[in-house]
Amino acid sequence: MQLANNMTLYNDYLSISGVSVQALKEKYGSPLYIIDQKGFEDRVKLFQKHFKSEKFNTRIIYASKAFLCTYLGKLINQLNLAIDVVSGGELYTALNGGINPEQIYFHGNNKLLSELTYALEKGVGTIVVDNWKEYQTIQSLAKKPVRVLLRVNPGIEAHTHEYIQTAKHSSKFGLAIDDSKTNQLIQAMAADPLIDFAGLHCHIGSQVFEEKSFFKEAQVMISYASQIQSQLNLRVKELNLGGGFGVYYTDQDKPFEYKDFLKNYIRVVEKTIDKEGLDLDIVSIEPGRSLINDFGTTIYDIGIIKPMPNYQDFIFIDGGMVDNPRPSLYGANYEAAIDGKITQKPHQTYSIAGKCCESSDVLIKRIDLPQAVPHDTLVVPRTGSYTYSMSSNYNKIPRPAVVFVKDGQDLLVIERESYEDLLRNEVTTNENIL
Ligand code: LLP
Repeated sequence: MQLANNMTLYNDYLSISGVSVQALKEKYGSPLYIIDQKGFEDRVKLFQKHFKSEKFNTRIIYASKAFLCTYLGKLINQLNLAIDVVSGGELYTALNGGINPEQIYFHGNNKLLSELTYALEKGVGTIVVDNWKEYQTIQSLAKKPVRVLLRVNPGIEAHTHEYIQTAKHSSKFGLAIDDSKTNQLIQAMAADPLIDFAGLHCHIGSQVFEEKSFFKEAQVMISYASQIQSQLNLRVKELNLGGGFGVYYTDQDKPFEYKDFLKNYIRVVEKTIDKEGLDLDIVSIEPGRSLINDFGTTIYDIGIIKPMPNYQDFIFIDGGMVDNPRPSLYGANYEAAIDGKITQKPHQTYSIAGKCCESSDVLIKRIDLPQAVPHDTLVVPRTGSYTYSMSSNYNKIPRPAVVFVKDGQDLLVIERESYEDLLRNEVTTNENIL
């Protein structure tokens, strides 16, 4: 297992940002999500420092679908990060964290009337419009000009799992740049006194490793922006290039060096802007996974170890697809280790499975580990994104707690769910319709 930032070992036991995993397991129980706050803050600062230009303002927008809770909202505020939300629930959580509505970008291909009403009431800074119908709804609700970007699809196929590609021609998101109706919508919005048409957005996919895909995306978008500027006689003020920067899960993943990438990305944007004669106020990006994934670790208690005559032995853990559905959904891979035996030589190959009544509930199909015994702690690093946010209560399993750690201190920010929580929305009634 490759240690992530701020992880240290003492006698083969792991500490994260100076806090021992065993102490956290004892204090908060298992499974447990642990977020290294310092790691997240430093990563955000790195992005803010290197995605900078003298020619235009830049903005880092955190894609909150990766992970969001009120406490993280407060940190986002302190870090002066903007945020992208895709539902009324994410918006509510962001506002609850005290995020300035001006800093919020509201995404989504099917924003509900109730969600748009809520967003406008709260003064959300920018709505990223997906389609004609949505524009008409905003227009019918607006009492003063609403700042919008239009999500367009540049038709770039990024190399990643097909479920997380977003800018292919068949994608449900945004409008194709080669469709003449897209220009008509832009023209209509730009001419509408209730719409402040600020520019364009696109996002080519997630967990993308090829820098050139992002450079190509920037070039295509800038050339498109300059084309509509001259054809439609309007100004594109903001270009939001989305997120999707790949991260390390296992040695199969080769993420780029973010610092160099961001500098080069800016250079490509600056050069292309000069070439196209475009004058932008803001260029923004929307990373989620690359800001938080490295800094989340999930720990589990090992239960039964089941010998298998014709397969590798199973290690059963007290969580699984309920707290991390990514392996069963996307075939995602993770590294793992046993706390207290982290650098020990492997003893055998195991398969790590969860406790759901579902054959796909396998967190790691094959992994070489030292000998495991019941109540060992399994540590799964790099689980900061799309885990808690995609978790479920399948089989009525309560969600784990979330604890943040920094400089030797820990803070519980989401409590473990109880059985009572599972029934919270059930209506107590003596009536019977049978
Ligand atoms: N902006 C937009 C419009 C997006 O749709 C996304 C991700 C992002 C930004 C952030 O992408 P990131 O930097 O986090 O890769 N559940 C999947 C990932 C789905 C991503 C959806 N959109 C997974 O677990 O891999």
